[in-house]
Amino acid sequence: MRVSVKALHRTLLRGKDIKAIVVFFSFLFTLFIFLSLKPSGENDFERERQRLLSQRQTVTYESGSREKLNMSLLWLSQFKSATGFSTEAFAFIQGLEDRVTDIDIFQFDGEIHEDYVRNLNPEAQKLIQRHWMKEGETKVYDVIVFHSVAHAWQPFLYRNGLYRVGRTMFETDGIPKMWKTHLNYVNEIWIPSQFNFETFSRSGVDPSRLHIVPQAITPFTEDAAKLIPLSLPDPVKKDDFVFLSVFKWEPRKGIDILLDAYFREFEASDPVCLVILTRKGNSNASVFTEKISRYVDSLGVPLYTRARFLVLEPSLPTVLMPRLYRRANAFVLASRGEGWGRPLMEAMLMNVPVIATNWSGTTEFLREDTGYPISVELLEECSLGELQGADQQLFGGQRWARPSAYHLRKLMRYVMSHPLESLKKANYAREQVITKYNPHVVADIVVEQLKRILTRLEMEGKRRRV
Ligand SMILES: *[C@@H]1O[C@H](CO)[C@@H](O)[C@H](O)[C@H]1NC(C)=O
Ligand SMILES: *[C@@H]1O[C@H](CO)[C@@H](O)[C@H](O)[C@H]1NC(C)=O
Ligand SMILES: *[C@@H]1O[C@H](CO)[C@@H](O)[C@H](O)[C@H]1NC(C)=O
Repeated sequence: MRVSVKALHRTLLRGKDIKAIVVFFSFLFTLFIFLSLKPSGENDFERERQRLLSQRQTVTYESGSREKLNMSLLWLSQFKSATGFSTEAFAFIQGLEDRVTDIDIFQFDGEIHEDYVRNLNPEAQKLIQRHWMKEGETKVYDVIVFHSVAHAWQPFLYRNGLYRVGRTMFETDGIPKMWKTHLNYVNEIWIPSQFNFETFSRSGVDPSRLHIVPQAITPFTEDAAKLIPLSLPDPVKKDDFVFLSVFKWEPRKGIDILLDAYFREFEASDPVCLVILTRKGNSNASVFTEKISRYVDSLGVPLYTRARFLVLEPSLPTVLMPRLYRRANAFVLASRGEGWGRPLMEAMLMNVPVIATNWSGTTEFLREDTGYPISVELLEECSLGELQGADQQLFGGQRWARPSAYHLRKLMRYVMSHPLESLKKANYAREQVITKYNPHVVADIVVEQLKRILTRLEMEGKRRRV
């Protein structure tokens, strides 16, 4: 049927049609205004984060295509203790498995935590089955790696190695006094960062004995987008912006600075909650909650306007960690010094924007382009008053950083009000962590170090060329 334009106009512009058109367009207009006024932020953040997480980041690695060293290696570490050394050590071995013909591993310098061993992920369980050193092993290893705090190294321990490597790190501007002797019980030292290269050499360690080998980390999952955010109990509300902090309860972690910044910057009416996962001995969440409340009382922050916070039970199963990071909108740590800062790297793996102190081992991977570095006010004597016994021996006479609580406040507020920008940074950080600190990538660096050592052993006639 043909309808002329004129006829169409005539039909459309009849009085009641005009009314209908006006009603229709004003409805459209109202809808438009409504949609544009709808608060953006949380939902956009969630949607964008989900989109970014679903872009898989993997390192293509063909096992078997790389050089394999024909050598024997014994790696000693706190494999069966619930410490960062343990997760670090497993990530090293995971990468080295295809690159070294003969690897043994064994527990060194650390209490065995049965619970931790039972709950280890299947990959770590398999590494233990395949590589755990046999009882009464008598072979002579080409290289033995002592991976622990340096004061555990002794000349009489594990003498069945042609060459001894010490893997360690430290969090201050120097090293513990007693380490000076212990560092001599190994042939060379592998530290994770340029920061430690400088602090160790300034403390008198011969720089030619220092080699930088970064930490490795195994991505939690290849399908990060499928993880369901952990649902957190009261007082966390569904739409809260969650600042997550994970640390051992000790003065070095800058807990006072974090609490100062958070409770001065935010109030009860802010849609925000600080969620803390911390450990110290057998203390439970209510013990930490009590300590935090008392500290915030001392700041003079009134109870009725106080921003919300939640302390998680320290017994939170480690398998839930990826989902906890998935729920966080930002990760924050005002530490006075770090050897490396594994939880920061874990947060980065889950696309969580990181706010942390611009000092120490952390600066190896936390910069303006991968997160939000907190500026440092000054270096000050380690606060021994709050530390006990062995810690005095470790930290006495050294300095660490005082991060700026003022700058931290500004950064927390900024990240909260620029969610999409912070996600963009977090996504770049994730890409960096996965491509630079993947176990296979770090294994390349370790293999280079081992080759250098083998060449030296051959030149010194201690080992035959094979
Ligand atoms: C590895 O080295 C051993 C001696 O340490 C030698 O007997 C063996 O043949 C070598 N294997 C390969 C594949 O080169
Ligand atoms: C937490 O620890 C305190 C002190 O040891 C104890 O009194 C309290 O009952 C514990 N609370 C829970 C929920 O286990
Ligand atoms: C972090 O430290 C670096 C190196 O000292 C410095 O260039 C940078 O300005 C610092 N950033 C902040 C936010 O303090």
